[in-house]
Amino acid sequence: MNPENGGVGGDHYFSANPVTPARSVEVEFEAAGRAFALTSAAGVFSAARLDPGTAVLLRKAVLPAATTSGALLDLGCGYGPIACVLAAVAPSATVWAVDVNERALRLVHANAERIRAGDRIRAVGPDAVPPDLRFAEIWSNPPIRIGKDELHGLLGRWLPRLEPTGTAWLVVARHLGGDSLAAWLRERGWVVQRHASQRGFRVLQVTAPAPEIPS
Ligand SMILES: C[S@@+](CC[C@H](N)C(=O)[O-])C[C@H]1O[C@@H](n2cnc3c(N)ncnc32)[C@H](O)[C@@H]1O
Repeated sequence: MNPENGGVGGDHYFSANPVTPARSVEVEFEAAGRAFALTSAAGVFSAARLDPGTAVLLRKAVLPAATTSGALLDLGCGYGPIACVLAAVAPSATVWAVDVNERALRLVHANAERIRAGDRIRAVGPDAVPPDLRFAEIWSNPPIRIGKDELHGLLGRWLPRLEPTGTAWLVVARHLGGDSLAAWLRERGWVVQRHASQRGFRVLQVTAPAPEIPS
């Protein structure tokens, strides 16, 4: 059984249209001092429980302030645990929840309604995000298993869409290349702090370099 795809044989969690029947699963967890009960389903990432890496990210990274407005991005949202926590703690923000898995996007729609944030969580495929939109924060438990080149392409596509003062929070297992990903990001000019490390996961804080002050 592969716990990352809910114990499903044929599908990857990043399949666009999982063939496995969409058996519903209730996932309960606590984050930011609140209890969440979300609907998940076979054929999406970590369908049966909050992923341990996502749990570390939500526990260790600095969640947005209640006053945060503008757009936040949950990149590779799955059934939406990160997007739902962001929407709950930042009620003035709009959360874009992006995934290639259409079943995951349907679950995010349902979960957004469950937490009464249906008007503030936009669950869409990558190409449906308005091209000129910039994000105050990007949050991601990125899809490492799509392969290094694809992962680099994904981050290279979305990180430049941070606002100049924005922050990205990423969680990556050390044994799946968390440290080499940090090094790769630094080589491309991003400022990367290893903000926290817990249970084998690295929480990376990524920001753009400060602009040079002309002399
Ligand atoms: C590690 S899972 C994290 C899911 C969810 N955020 C969570 O914490 O449970 C990564 C997600 O990225 C999605 N994904 C894969 N390729 C993607 C792409 N090119 N663009 C957006 N999402 C993608 C997968 O379908 C998967 O749902």
